[in-house]
Amino acid sequence: MNNFEFKNPTKIIFGKDSIKKLENEIPENAKVLLLYGGGSIKKNGIYDQVQAALENFSVIEFGGIPANPEYSVLLEALEVIKTENITYLLAVGGGSVIDGTKFLAAAALYEGHSPWDILVDKKRTEVGLPFGTVLTLPATGSEMNSGAVITRKETKEKLGMGGPGLFPQFSILDPQVITSIPERQIANGVTDAFMHVLEQYMTYPDGALLQDRFAESILQTLIEVAPRILEDPTDYKAASNFMWSCTMALNGLIQKGVPTDWAIHAIGHELTALFGIDHARTLAIIAPSHYKYNFESKKEKLAQYAERVWNITEGNTDDKAYAAIEKTVDFLHGLGINTKLSEYTNDYEGTAETISKRFTDRGMLGLGEHHDLSPDKVAKIVKMAY
Ligand code: NZQ
Ligand code: ZN
Repeated sequence: MNNFEFKNPTKIIFGKDSIKKLENEIPENAKVLLLYGGGSIKKNGIYDQVQAALENFSVIEFGGIPANPEYSVLLEALEVIKTENITYLLAVGGGSVIDGTKFLAAAALYEGHSPWDILVDKKRTEVGLPFGTVLTLPATGSEMNSGAVITRKETKEKLGMGGPGLFPQFSILDPQVITSIPERQIANGVTDAFMHVLEQYMTYPDGALLQDRFAESILQTLIEVAPRILEDPTDYKAASNFMWSCTMALNGLIQKGVPTDWAIHAIGHELTALFGIDHARTLAIIAPSHYKYNFESKKEKLAQYAERVWNITEGNTDDKAYAAIEKTVDFLHGLGINTKLSEYTNDYEGTAETISKRFTDRGMLGLGEHHDLSPDKVAKIVKMAY
């Protein structure tokens, strides 16, 4: 096991009707900016619950943060923060609203030339404006981590940022929010969380027994509950397991002390930036090709996943490893998620070269757990995914 440090300061408030506990978490004299997305919270009652809990606070609102939080929209919110002397941010939404809020938490205190530099120059945010979240869509884990991904349509870029100053102070997780989520987004949530675990697990055996079993148990839980939530989002038992699994998949715990990959996400972000494909679906497009292309270096772990998660006991290591890739693809198809780029766009020719060039230009020359996935190899993986 590798050496590691682990600190996660986010307070989780989990359970039925927990949104009202908001009032205990925000500092008394705070001037709050309530941030939300395209308006789903106004239809499903979450907005009313938040309003009721914020009754005794001074609150200004900023709605309209789109899925794949857009830089130009966030700049408008930044203006509000500055002119209104906002002291506390409250994100009510999924990964996009929470990530947008993290960007604002960083940008509000950033003293450099342009806030875009935070993303381009990979500036770590040590201290940000304090913020909390009310999670409305289990998927990204953003509610309990310090990362964010921001989109800039103008340049078709989608870049990551983060730092210890960007953990939410608290996150409220009421699994009842799931009842209003469209099926497509539930499938996305399961897929994203599943892929988060795989990115931190599907590398090479490293003797980290506990981390492996944490990862496998999250995968098994997602496999067990996914059909139940898709069938009946009011199934509270399934919803609560789904929600907690998504948070645990990317709150830092399972990646401590082990090698991690994250190449699927790096490539996937480019597909969202270029074609607007939902984040989770880009991962489903890239993962099968990535595992086939890197089969030799990943097959031990693929076979372990086959045995422990999919109960595949027949055959040798290679057989099991291949079967695991097939099982994963079947699982994704069962969620209604397509796994080929050509199923999302007719305009895919040249994508491999475009992404490969972008990685070269950005100096992303060695992705993956071995840091050996060069841009030309990335191009091959993307082509396999057409
Ligand atoms: O905008 P509204 O009206 O709220 O509607 C949203 C949006 O259209 C809707 N929705 C959310 N909660 C709902 C609901 N509809 C009905 N009922 C509810 N309770 O769902 C749509 C998608 O929302 P979004 O926030 O975009 O989805 P998700 O949570 O999947 O977030 C995706 C974003 O997170 C980033 C992705 O790249 C993408 O930009 N990620 C963030 C990560 C992180 N910070 O750790 C890690 C991930 O790998 C990912 O990259
Ligand atoms: Zn993801």
